[in-house]
Amino acid sequence: MKLTLTLTATLLLAAWFQANSTAEPATVAVRESFAIKTKSLAVTLQVGADGRLYQQPVQAGSSPAVPVRDDEFYPQAGDGYVWEPALEVTHADGNTSTVLVFDSLTQTNETADITATRIRLHDSAYPFYVTLCFKAHLDEDVIEQWIELNHAEKSAVTLQRVESSSLLLGGDVYLTHFFGDWAKEMLSPITEKITPGTKVLDSKLGVRASQFRNPSFILSLGGKGNETNGTVLAGSLAWSGSFQCEFDNYGQGVRALTGINPFASAISLPAGKSFVTPTMLWVWSTNGLGDMSRKFHRWARDFGMRDGHTPRQVLLNNWEATGFDFDFQRIVGLYDPAKEIGTELFLLDDGWFGNKYPRVNDHAALGDWQPNRQRLPNGLAPLASEAVRRGLRFGIWIEPEMVNPKSELFDAHPDWAIRQPKREVELQRHQLVLDLTRPEVQTQEWNMIRSILSVPDISYAKWDCNRYLTQPGSPYLSPARQSELWVDYVNALYALMEKTAKTFPATELMLCSGGGGRADYGALKYFHEFWPSDNTDPTLRVPMQWDYSYFFPVMALASHVTHWGNRPMHFACAVAMSARFGMDLDLTKLSAQDKAICAGAIIAYKQIRDVTQLGDLYRLEDPHENFRGALNFVSPDRRHAVVFAFQLKEGANRPVFPQGLDPAQRYTVRELNPAPGREAIPQEGNSLTGAELMAGGVRPSCANAIEASVIELAPSAVSAADTLHAFGTGSR
Ligand code: GLA
Repeated sequence: MKLTLTLTATLLLAAWFQANSTAEPATVAVRESFAIKTKSLAVTLQVGADGRLYQQPVQAGSSPAVPVRDDEFYPQAGDGYVWEPALEVTHADGNTSTVLVFDSLTQTNETADITATRIRLHDSAYPFYVTLCFKAHLDEDVIEQWIELNHAEKSAVTLQRVESSSLLLGGDVYLTHFFGDWAKEMLSPITEKITPGTKVLDSKLGVRASQFRNPSFILSLGGKGNETNGTVLAGSLAWSGSFQCEFDNYGQGVRALTGINPFASAISLPAGKSFVTPTMLWVWSTNGLGDMSRKFHRWARDFGMRDGHTPRQVLLNNWEATGFDFDFQRIVGLYDPAKEIGTELFLLDDGWFGNKYPRVNDHAALGDWQPNRQRLPNGLAPLASEAVRRGLRFGIWIEPEMVNPKSELFDAHPDWAIRQPKREVELQRHQLVLDLTRPEVQTQEWNMIRSILSVPDISYAKWDCNRYLTQPGSPYLSPARQSELWVDYVNALYALMEKTAKTFPATELMLCSGGGGRADYGALKYFHEFWPSDNTDPTLRVPMQWDYSYFFPVMALASHVTHWGNRPMHFACAVAMSARFGMDLDLTKLSAQDKAICAGAIIAYKQIRDVTQLGDLYRLEDPHENFRGALNFVSPDRRHAVVFAFQLKEGANRPVFPQGLDPAQRYTVRELNPAPGREAIPQEGNSLTGAELMAGGVRPSCANAIEASVIELAPSAVSAADTLHAFGTGSR
C-alpha cells in the first residue's frame, strides 16, 4: 500500500482546498482515519492493512472499535463478506466476486456550509472503479450520499445490486417506518427494535416509490427518541421507483442498506459507461425528532424542492365541484366566486381532453391531449386568459405517462405501452403506463408537456400518475435488457421532469400519484409540492401530515379543504392552513356560514404563511397518542409564531405549550378565524413574553372532538412602558 499522506498533511490539504475551488485526489495512509463530517456527526473511515475501506459504527456516544471485516464501509459480495452486501457484480469474465481497495480521497469545500467528499475505490484484479460520493451540509447535519461506478473490462459487467448507502450503526437501533395504502398513506407509524435478522422495507411498483410504505424512515440509536431527546437519524431515498431499505442486524451491529431495489433489476453496464445511484439522504440529531425535522426542512427548502423560499398561494381545484362534467362556461362560472373568497390560483382537473374518445370518465382518452372541441371549442388559452383577467392564476391537470387502451394514441401505437407478452393485460383505472424507455414515447410525452405548458397564462400543473407497474415488460427493450426497464424508466422520467422544470421555470408543479405515491425527494427536486393522499378527511390528515412532517417541510404538503368525511368546515380549514392550503369545493353550494369560515381561513392563511412555510416547526402533541394534535411554527427571526390545536376526541381542555419562541420577546395572542359561537380564548389580546408563553402555554378554544383552534403569536408593538421597563427605570 502506498503511504503518501499523513493526517497533518490531510489537514493542511483541507486548508488548501478551502482556498482553492478544486482539489487533487490524495491517498490516505493505512490505519489512518478520516471522516465525513457535519456539525455534530462524523462518519469515521479508515483504510485497513488489506487496503479495504472500513467504517467505525455510528452510535450514540463514542465508538472506539478497531474495524474488523464485518465493518467494511461498502461491502462487496463474493470474497469473504457473508452478510448483506452493498455491491454485487458479475464481471465480464463471469467472476461473481468484487474486491474494492482504497484508491484516493478528494475533499473540497463547495461553500462555507457544504463539503464534498469523493472516495475512489478500485477492484484489485479488474479495471472496475467505484466512487463513493458525499455532500455534507455542515449546519443542517445532512449528508447526501450516492455511488458512481464505471469500468474498462473487455465487455459489459452485470450490476446485480448497487446500494446508494450502507451505513453501519452500533448499539441498540430502533427503526420507525410508515406503513399505509391508498388513502391511508403514512398513517401507521411503527417503531421497533431491529433484532438479529434482516428487516426489509421495499416496493416493487416501478414507476413510483410507494403505495404501501414510503422510502423514508427514522433510526434511533441507543434507545427510542422523542421530539426533544434522543440520537436520531432520518433516512430518505431520493428515488421514485422500486426501492429497498434493508436493516441487517448481524449480531455485532446493524447495517442500513438503501438503494434501488435489486429485485428483477440486473443492469448490463458496457465498458466506458457510468452508472450513478440515486441519492440517499441522512439527517442527524442528538436532540430528538423535532431538531432532526427542522434541519431536514431547512435543507429541503434550499436543495430538495423548487422555490423553497416562496410561500405558496391559495389554490382552488374544480375536481370536487364538477368531476368530469364541465364545459367552458361552467369553468369560467367558477372564477368569480373563487376570486371573491380570496383564492389565488385555479386548477382545472381531469376531463378537458380527447375528441374521438372524449374524456367524460376515466375509461378513455389518456394519451390524446388535445382539448375536447365540444367542451372547450377554442382550447385552453381562453380559459387561462379569462382566469388571469379576473385576477386568478390558472393551472392544469396532466398525466403524461399514461394511456387508455381506448385512445387514438393506443390505436396507433399499441406497442408503446408496458405489458407482458402472452399475458392477459391488467389495467388499473382502465389505463396502462407508456414505455418511457422508448425514444418515440419520450418525444411524444415531451411534446405534449411542452405544448400544454406553453399555452399563455398557464402557470401551474398537477402531474398525476394513477397506476403502477404490475406487468413489467417493455416491447421496446431487447429480451436481454428486460430487467433494465425499472431503472431506465425512472431515469427517463427524471430527464423529462428536469426538462420541464428548466423549460418552464416559472410554472409551479405538483406531484400526484394515486395519492402519495411520489412523496420522495427524487422527483420533488423538480417540483414545488406533492399530493400526500387522496384522503382529505381532516381527522386523518392531522396524523398523516404529522408523519410526513418528519421528512418534508409543510410547504411541500398540498392540503385541500374538501367534504371528505363530512367534517365541520372550521376544522377542515384549520388543518389545511397548517400545510399548503388549497380547496376542492363547489363554492356556489356552500352555506353562508361555511363560506364565511373559508374566507376567514384564507385571510388568516395569507397572514401566517410566511411563518408556517418558511419558519421552524415544533411538533407538540402527537395525534397518534393524544386526544388532540398540536403544533407550532416560529418565523426564522423568532418574532412571529402560530399555534395549531386539532382536537380529535373528547378530552379535557388544557393549554398547549409552544416551543422555540424568543423568551424575552413579547407576543400578542390572538385566535385567528375563530369558530362561530365559541367563546374567545382566555389570553385573547394579551401581550406575553416568549418565556411566559412557553412556561404557561396558550389555552385553545377547542374543547370537543373535531374542533380546532389556530392562535397567532404576533410581535407586540413595543409600548412606552415596556421600553422604560426594559431600561430598568420604570415599574409596572
Ligand atoms: C386522481 C387524483 C384526483 C384527480 C383524479 C382525476 O385520482 O388523485 O385528485 O385529479 O385523479 O382523474
